[in-house]
Amino acid sequence: MAGKVALVTGAAAGIGRAIALRLGEEGATQILVDIDDKGLRETERMLKAAGYPVMAITADVTEEAPVKALFAKALAAHGRLDILVNDVGGGSCGHIWEAKVEDWDFVQKLNLRSTFLCTREAAAHMRERRAGRIVNMSSGAREGTPWTAYYIGNSAYSAAKAAIHGFTRGVALELAEYNVFVNAVAPGPIETERTGPGFRKIEALEYGPVRATPLRRIGVPEDIASAVLFLASDEANYITGTTLAVAGGR
Ligand SMILES: NC(=O)c1ccc[n+]([C@@H]2O[C@H](COP(=O)([O-])OP(=O)(O)OC[C@H]3O[C@@H](n4cnc5c(N)ncnc54)[C@H](O)[C@@H]3O)[C@@H](O)[C@H]2O)c1
Repeated sequence: MAGKVALVTGAAAGIGRAIALRLGEEGATQILVDIDDKGLRETERMLKAAGYPVMAITADVTEEAPVKALFAKALAAHGRLDILVNDVGGGSCGHIWEAKVEDWDFVQKLNLRSTFLCTREAAAHMRERRAGRIVNMSSGAREGTPWTAYYIGNSAYSAAKAAIHGFTRGVALELAEYNVFVNAVAPGPIETERTGPGFRKIEALEYGPVRATPLRRIGVPEDIASAVLFLASDEANYITGTTLAVAGGR
């Protein structure tokens, strides 16, 4: 990663923060983005304390104007972008029989529109430079998640994460001739501040995440950061259009 410029969205917490720390450790210069200014400043502080070059920008990546401004700022500061990690995502619509249209739309916007908007900006630049790596965040939920389906329902999220796979594949095909690689990571259950309490609440029940995972543990954000690092690196020189499951055998 030495000499590489990377932009990571969703870097204020959880998996995004772990990705930022890992890319920093490997020598990347980073632009970190999140809507949560406080969390983002904390990630920035952690990276700076470790001596990693970083610039933090607070922005809503689900809206077109802030995303355009964000990429303009990043490119003005560094002159180029080698890596984009689209980590922002999440959300829930509840059980399908009571799902609200606004919750459905919110989940699609948070996961899909954010990935589309950031990828579009990065692709225009990377295509011109004939170099670049884009890593998107899908999920085990792209094929349905037993515990989520059983206890809270979340078909909007499953649909959005399946769409991330299709989007990744489509964009990879469009950009292959320009030497721009596009892949996704599909995490299984990963312990973050957001997910941890929920996992523990349902673990003892019939479809608990540990018993539905062959490796018999909940993953940690660093498990995902390692996979992102690999796909963003030159080690993955013959891999594009792939969604890599990092899900403990699920
Ligand atoms: N944790 C898991 O078990 C798990 C499993 C599969 C997939 N994922 C995916 O991994 C990614 C990260 O998950 P996480 O658990 O670390 O989530 P998280 O909620 O801890 O982190 C997401 C970050 O995105 C930021 N964000 C939200 N809306 C934003 C917006 N409009 N603009 C900019 N930033 C915004 C949040 O402030 C937060 O810092 C998501 O795409 C999630 O769907 C997580």
